[in-house]
Amino acid sequence: MNKDFDTIDSMNILGVETSCDETAAAVVTDGTTLLSHVVVSQIDIHREFGGVVPEIASRSHIEVILPVISKALDDARLDWEEIDGIAVTFGPGLSGSLLIGSLTARTLALLKHKPLYPIHHVEAHTYANFIIRVKDEAATGLRVDDLPSREPSFPLLSLTVSGGHSQLVLFQAHGDYRLLGQTQDDAVGEAFDKVAKVLGLEYPGGPAIAQAAKAGDPKAYKFPISKLDNPYDFSFSGLKTAVLRHLQNLIGEDFNYPSHQIAMRLSPQQINDTAASFQLVAVQTLVDKTVMAQREYTPRTVVIAGGVAANQELRHQLREKLPVEIEYAPSSLCTDNAAMIAALGYYKSRQTESVDPYNLEIAPSLSM
Ligand code: KG4
Ligand code: ZN
Repeated sequence: MNKDFDTIDSMNILGVETSCDETAAAVVTDGTTLLSHVVVSQIDIHREFGGVVPEIASRSHIEVILPVISKALDDARLDWEEIDGIAVTFGPGLSGSLLIGSLTARTLALLKHKPLYPIHHVEAHTYANFIIRVKDEAATGLRVDDLPSREPSFPLLSLTVSGGHSQLVLFQAHGDYRLLGQTQDDAVGEAFDKVAKVLGLEYPGGPAIAQAAKAGDPKAYKFPISKLDNPYDFSFSGLKTAVLRHLQNLIGEDFNYPSHQIAMRLSPQQINDTAASFQLVAVQTLVDKTVMAQREYTPRTVVIAGGVAANQELRHQLREKLPVEIEYAPSSLCTDNAAMIAALGYYKSRQTESVDPYNLEIAPSLSM
């Protein structure tokens, strides 16, 4: 697997990702070397609505998908002849958004005569950790020093935490994995987003909570950690409701008080303390379960993946509490991107047949 960039049999996969509100394309060689990494985020458009508006998301994908793919090829300094396959997210995600990426990839696969690989978005998040080299720092915006030093080894324990998923997955090999536990209600990123909204912080809530928490006291308020039958399952809706009740109480109102009128009555200190106290419990939950799974399954590598994996408090606590070393992918490979899609696409191309572009259907509610 440790090939040089220019070995003749190296395989260049173009990844395409449009499952939510990021339009992304990237080229990865042999699943580990990043050649280009283009992400056009719609966050600024959706921010004024406080969350992703699906119709606007699909329209925005249509507008930028072709320029994004062209830029990924240009940045990689490759022609279509040098692309060996196309990997595209087919689920889970927003239907309208998935359709734009998958129809584009299907059309390109037909026109350019390239094998096409459908990719599971949540499985792919883990593969951000397989990117350990960049060909050109300027073309990818990533520094080699910020990447993990080596490819993860199997068995591999992955904590995958995003806006749509919270799960612990044990990979025995590429394509061979077992779900140890998952959220029974809200994903942890969703809890960050919803708590941020009540606190009057910007969308997306994860980075906004993390920022506010820096100025807050994580011990100011005590929030509960849910107990579940399967110790590897998660539940974040109780925590979210506990934060809401605490805030209603703080301003002297009862549980009927509308959540959207709370923020204007909070002091900056109350906002920061609540953000810090919420983040502490959310992160503790993730860390405790990951540490427990590490002890039980003793994997050779532990990784974190998904947008919430960008959280510095999570990275810090995990490094302190795990009895083994852990390396992290850079934040821009944790949030939605196409490099992870191309990386997993490479391993799929080694193990499975490509699909007929005429037959690729999207799967918006795909599970692991
Ligand atoms: O993986 P991702 O980009 O999209 C999905 O597949 O859902 O994850 C987005 C989620 C959002 O809920 C966002 O608030 C959260 O990741 N997030 C964070 C941070 N950065 C993004 N959560 C906590 N701390 C962060 N620094
Ligand atoms: Zn994602």
